[in-house]
Amino acid sequence: MSPFLLTRTLPEDATEAALRADVLHGLSHTPKTLPPKWFYDARGSELFDKITELPEYYPTRAEREILAARAPEIARATGARTLVELGSGSSEKTRHLLDALSGLHTYVPVDVSESALTQAGHALIAERPELGVHALIADFTGGLALPGTPGPRLVAFLGGTIGNLLPAERAAFLTSVRALLSPGDALLLGTDLVKDESVLVAAYDDAAGVTAEFDKNVLTVVNRELGADFDPEAFTHVALWDAEHEWIEMRLRSRTEQTVKIPALDLAVDFAAGEDLRTEISAKFREDGVRREVAAAGFDLTHWWTDRESRFALSLSVVR
Ligand code: AVJ
Repeated sequence: MSPFLLTRTLPEDATEAALRADVLHGLSHTPKTLPPKWFYDARGSELFDKITELPEYYPTRAEREILAARAPEIARATGARTLVELGSGSSEKTRHLLDALSGLHTYVPVDVSESALTQAGHALIAERPELGVHALIADFTGGLALPGTPGPRLVAFLGGTIGNLLPAERAAFLTSVRALLSPGDALLLGTDLVKDESVLVAAYDDAAGVTAEFDKNVLTVVNRELGADFDPEAFTHVALWDAEHEWIEMRLRSRTEQTVKIPALDLAVDFAAGEDLRTEISAKFREDGVRREVAAAGFDLTHWWTDRESRFALSLSVVR
């Protein structure tokens, strides 16, 4: 039986320091913003799992359909011996890939959540005693180092999470992934696709209000971690389609004029009535754009697969 290894590249206090910096920066500029990574405490992760089961939120089901259909092709095309999954969470989607990759030596799940990694890692090891699992507690947007496991390596970044990054951040991220790899290695990328505005807006503003609760959860995180006094009910959840940038924006709109205190930052933040705090962008893609973006980072896109309704795509790109 292979051991379960866990490596921390993220200092214990890095999360708190990063949150403080992000909140200070994002709330002292206009328009106000907070990065989406702070949604995912235990409650936020639970709410996201609920979102993936909503009738309006199609990306998870569409991506699962593609993975189920294409995992054997992905395995043949890559021959991967190491599978690195960025933002692995519960590693639920990865099952199809792990089943198909017959020569796999080591699975490397990467996440900022130690509890998610430990839980998923132990469950996997119990099911697959031959598979090595080397989990990394790390922020994949910066300073990742991979273990020296055998190639070819396949890096998977699923769920459409790359859409949470701004174009310049995506370019930097893809370049940093390329720098971890060698010729013969590959990138499997999940991207949500541009489609009818009403379908997109509904996916980010569901009738049951789960996404609204998820959005407001970031205020609860700031309250708990930085002693702030946000009243989540003093904000309305808004989902907007930005047709120029082709991304969805989630915002929290202040219902009234109000001042929020953030003691840990010695900060008081004024909101005008109707003022928005942007909490997420979720970019939607087209094949040409993905091809161009991965090419700029040194990859050649070799495969493009969509679900039957062409809502979501998985692409495979090889190191040039
Ligand atoms: C997990 C980042 C892919 O952008 O669709 C779901 C997060 N936000 N509903 C996405 C999310 C609102 C999701 N990702």
